[in-house]
Amino acid sequence: MDWKNAIKVKKLKPGKTKMVTIGAKVLMVGYIDGEYIATEGLCRHMRWPLAIGGKIKDGCIRCPLHQTTHQLSDGELVEWSPFPILPSYGKLIGKLSKQKDLKIYATRIEGEHLQVDTSSES
Ligand code: FES
Repeated sequence: MDWKNAIKVKKLKPGKTKMVTIGAKVLMVGYIDGEYIATEGLCRHMRWPLAIGGKIKDGCIRCPLHQTTHQLSDGELVEWSPFPILPSYGKLIGKLSKQKDLKIYATRIEGEHLQVDTSSES
């Protein structure tokens, strides 16, 4: 276990996410459906920062750039670069990187901070 302070809890609003850095790691943290979450912060497709414009719906995070979608519970890939505006383009640029699940980190509240176990990638 390697618990690190990520952000003050009072800075997390229900349903919203924030980008934080812990050492060299960029993470997305949030308070979603009554639970604190922490995921890797950059989209697995082309590294867009997910806290900037990422949409959370039905327990998933959807990247605003090409709509790659992962489950927040375990990071499992749901859809890879569908880019509905121009699906053939999405399919093409989807091949630029290897399909991967999103890393998810354990969280806990300690005092006034949300802490992330940076050794707990799943
Ligand atoms: S960068 Fe996120 S879907 Fe392409």
